[in-house]
Amino acid sequence: MAAKTYAMPTAVAEHARLSPASYQEKYAASIADPEAFWREEGKRINWFSPYSKVKETSYAPGNVNIRWFSDGTLNACYNCVDRHLPKRADKTAIIWEGDEVDVQKHVTFRELHEHVARFANGLKKLGVGKGDRVAIYMPMVPEAAYAMLACARIGAVHSVIFGGFSPNAIADRVNDCEAKVVITANEGRRGGKAVPLKPNVDKALSKGACPTVDHVVILKHTDTDYELEAPRDVWWHELIGDCDTDCSPEVMNAEDPLFILYTSGSTGKPKGVVHTTGGYMVYASMTHEYAFDIREDDVYWCAADVGWITGHSYIVYGPLANGTTTLMFEGVPTYPDVSRIGKVVDKHQVNILYTAPTAIRALMAKGTAAAKGSTRESLRILGSVGEPINPEAWEWYYNHIGNSQCPVIDTFWQTETGGILIAPFPAATDMKPGSAMLPFFGIKPKLVDNEGHPLEGATEGNLIIEDSWPGQARTLWGDHERFEQTYFSTYKNVYFTGDGARRDEDGHFWITGRVDDVLNVSGHRLGTAEIESALVAHEVVAEAAVVGYPHDLKGQGIYVYVTVVDGVNATDELRVELVKWVRSELSPIATPDFIQWAPGLPKTRSGKIMRRILRKIACNEHSNLGDTSTLADPSVVDSLIENRLNR
Ligand code: WTA
Repeated sequence: MAAKTYAMPTAVAEHARLSPASYQEKYAASIADPEAFWREEGKRINWFSPYSKVKETSYAPGNVNIRWFSDGTLNACYNCVDRHLPKRADKTAIIWEGDEVDVQKHVTFRELHEHVARFANGLKKLGVGKGDRVAIYMPMVPEAAYAMLACARIGAVHSVIFGGFSPNAIADRVNDCEAKVVITANEGRRGGKAVPLKPNVDKALSKGACPTVDHVVILKHTDTDYELEAPRDVWWHELIGDCDTDCSPEVMNAEDPLFILYTSGSTGKPKGVVHTTGGYMVYASMTHEYAFDIREDDVYWCAADVGWITGHSYIVYGPLANGTTTLMFEGVPTYPDVSRIGKVVDKHQVNILYTAPTAIRALMAKGTAAAKGSTRESLRILGSVGEPINPEAWEWYYNHIGNSQCPVIDTFWQTETGGILIAPFPAATDMKPGSAMLPFFGIKPKLVDNEGHPLEGATEGNLIIEDSWPGQARTLWGDHERFEQTYFSTYKNVYFTGDGARRDEDGHFWITGRVDDVLNVSGHRLGTAEIESALVAHEVVAEAAVVGYPHDLKGQGIYVYVTVVDGVNATDELRVELVKWVRSELSPIATPDFIQWAPGLPKTRSGKIMRRILRKIACNEHSNLGDTSTLADPSVVDSLIENRLNR
């Protein structure tokens, strides 16, 4: 059956940067001669000294090496702040909407410059310099952006840790990148509740657990007072008390790291994805401009968190590089009620709204209440990111948030890709609800079978990207071998996304979801291995296996199989305790939905857990288990099926 197609609304199509013809032409040029294409596009960024080299990239096994613009120098903060001062000093750079309805703030580019430069000087006072790592564990407040930009200004490498992570998860990340300083706040606020950030950092750092950290800078965001630990801790406002606003941006090489961002993989601990300066800035700013067809006077709102890549590329670096007014929202779409998003749109006259399917489904669950109390007439473009958007959610978003006037730009990309890879760029194409549609310039998506053979025409397979693009991650912090292993070894000489996709008869892409052991829960990426290792850290857990299953609101839910150690009673109380344990060991976003007691786990004779079978049982598809002939003990499976929880 042919998919339903929506035309780009005329009001958008008429003025958009792209038309189907100009998209095709530019795309063809980007593929035919990437070197010439990016040599030209690289100029959108201000360089202290220009690049002569453009693309030096190799995916060769054992020698993956990705460099763009490698002899150019620049500063990312300069590009987001200073370069706008001549023409945009009084333009609003950041609109901040607090968790509570009446709390807001406007920050102009001039003010942004002052805040960032002062804080950068504060960091210098603490001994932070070029190449040092700084962890940022902050609520969604403008100071989070100041902190990121201040690091970029002095050449320090930031690593933002999502404010929902627990002390252990903080410690792992801080230690992996050997951060010298942690920047946090006393408290965050979300949905009317306080988030204890400083206490979490204290726990993470307690008993010498993070020996590289010399200082913790604490923003006093709420009235709650915490004891500071001298001389380690310092208040943000006291640190910058005597700092001036004169701080010249460090001259950085294009390939100097800009930030590290930890993300989950299918095995082991989270990976420190490294993005460098030049290519990332070119790609983040260009994709931001094209995906949302940005205009000078737009108010743009990406409702993600700066703790994720979406916040890096599309709240901070992309929009600010483009001189766009970017809105930061501290709260959640359902507080005080589901009409909040619409009301924020009206209040700040937002033109572009970029959010996640999970938020859309949460609003959709309340019928059309989300559309009450607002007109949302200022909106021109809607965006979606983080997981496949189901056609029902797409249509609800289109009709009830966008008044059937605004295209839904479904953007597919990843932490590792730095920016958007596939989307219905306005007005390059029509839209099909559920399809991310077409590749961005320079991106060559292909489908392959499990052996890596190319698949042509309308088909489904594993999604790879041939060749490199400037925004691509360069390595994993301290582990280039794992970088090669994870992305370039499954299939040779290409980048493997870890996602599956379908290409329809028109050549449009439909992302079907992860084909590895990575879960996508409410748009948050979680490795099954991470959750399992949190579980087995509990003294009663002998073995644990985690799989995903389809969940109406969250996209995927977390289904856990636990074998307890001999002699322990597997009770309901223990279940509650294990749920609490995972929340505090890792994060509330990793809260298990089901914990099934498993006297044994299905294993091959060589001892490998057969996740495929566990997945089927969790998805309530046990009648179709596939080949079970390699099972060491088939009776284990019958008992798991009999006691399954998701019926
Ligand atoms: C998934 C978020 C379908 C995908 C930017 C990917 C999507 C993972 C989409 C990356 C989309 C993201 N349609 N799936 N529009 N966007 N994904 O690193 O599985 O947090 O591999 O980056 O999210 O998640 P990450």
